[in-house]
Amino acid sequence: LLGSEFVNSPDRDFAVAAEREQLAAALAEVRTRFGQTYWPMVGGKARTGLPTLPVANPAEPGTVLGAIGLADAELADEAVKIAHTAWESWSKTPPQARARLLERLGELMEQQRPTLTAWIVYETGKPWRESDADVSEAIDFCRYYALQILKLTSQAQQRDLPGETNGYHYRSRGVAAVIAPWNFPLAILTGMSTAALAAGNTVIMKPAEQASIVAAQLMRLCEQAGFAAGVVNYLPGKGEVVGAKLVAHPRVHLIAFTGSLAVGQRILAEASVVRPGQRHLKRVIAELGGKNAIIVDSDADLDQAVVGVVQSAFSYSGQKCSACSRLIVLEGIYEAFIERLVQATRSLIVGDPAQPATYTGPVIARDACERIRGVIEQAKGRHRLVLEVDVSHLGEGYFIGPTIFADVDPQSSLAQEEIFGPVLAVLKARDFEHAIEIANGTNFALTGGLFSRSPKHIAEARARFEAGNLYINRKITAALVDRQPFGGFRLSGIGSKAGGPDYLLQFVEPVTVTENI
Ligand code: SER
Repeated sequence: LLGSEFVNSPDRDFAVAAEREQLAAALAEVRTRFGQTYWPMVGGKARTGLPTLPVANPAEPGTVLGAIGLADAELADEAVKIAHTAWESWSKTPPQARARLLERLGELMEQQRPTLTAWIVYETGKPWRESDADVSEAIDFCRYYALQILKLTSQAQQRDLPGETNGYHYRSRGVAAVIAPWNFPLAILTGMSTAALAAGNTVIMKPAEQASIVAAQLMRLCEQAGFAAGVVNYLPGKGEVVGAKLVAHPRVHLIAFTGSLAVGQRILAEASVVRPGQRHLKRVIAELGGKNAIIVDSDADLDQAVVGVVQSAFSYSGQKCSACSRLIVLEGIYEAFIERLVQATRSLIVGDPAQPATYTGPVIARDACERIRGVIEQAKGRHRLVLEVDVSHLGEGYFIGPTIFADVDPQSSLAQEEIFGPVLAVLKARDFEHAIEIANGTNFALTGGLFSRSPKHIAEARARFEAGNLYINRKITAALVDRQPFGGFRLSGIGSKAGGPDYLLQFVEPVTVTENI
């Protein structure tokens, strides 16, 4: 493996009939498996007999996909003990063997891609292409971190002087609690877990409640790949019970979290407490929110900009921390651009994500739907509504049409607070300087974008646009592993970028050994 080149797993091309047929068949096949219960898996054993929570399809909430068994605090405690015991041998497993298992996991995902894609579509309401891309990204993480750990461990350094040898190497940290979001249900859970595993830690996966069936598929694949019992554990449950127990547990060494700022702050606070029996400080890696802006310059290629903004704001109904929720348009083209944007957005097909032509499906759940609708209603009284799409014909699903407000004040809550839905605020800038000032005027710094043909403005943006991932003349979502290592700063998170060269360093302890000879 070492020395082989990393290559991103290609997405499926659904313009090809055979590819469409394969996913349609998988969607039909997965339907026949609705109704099962997914129990926590700890130490290689399914833990049955717990209370369960039904899982509904957000596009048709009357359809129950199955149920998840809810782990309790006692099981979380047991999981940590088991993962800790498993760590003793897993941490001694040579990096080559760990990397081979991760490669195997990636291969299994490639083989079972249509099934995984189908579960993502049903459980999280993500349309075909993006569900497929979720699987591609998960495969990429398996392969990328497998190669990275080999690189890292082969670079263990030795510096010898007359009478003194100095070695520098990496050891694993211990038990990692991986607390994952629902919006990239396979990719992000796989990314955080495989990084921890590659580095020699054992993992307790605490998936989001809204994506625990997809997570159960990952658990199943880990077993198939051949990870020993207890190395990877699956602990679905309520965040405030299971997540809280894991974060506070004295034997958890590392917490990898992706989710909201509010929960991230609580995790950081809880993880800082040293509890009886705890002999280490916990490391927290937290990827949090965004309020990401795209600037459309007066000389931008407007055709390109319209497409880029539509994709960034409305793909997966804006439910991405990377999504564009602020659009900053230069005065000279302001009204013309809004008009084109509105027309383009109107053409998006909103509907059942299980249908291949659908561009945006539902939002994740009833509470999210009600919250976003509330934000829209409140904003109507304060800002100029330029697009609202009627979705009342779509039935019971949690649908919200793409919504655009113009003339939004940069300080308003619509322009400052993360919505995590298909709502775009358009802001007018007097000149480019003003545009940069607005773009940098939030507490977040995750993604950002610029559409411009001016080399001077592009250079300005490179130097001054504050974003962890800045994209010029393209959409600001869909970062690829290795090509666009992903993550932000300020309130957008703490830790280095997923899918990038420094990520694994957070999952290891460097050790220096000096010997006088
Ligand atoms: N990595 C994703 C993206 O770039 C967000 O988590 O869209």
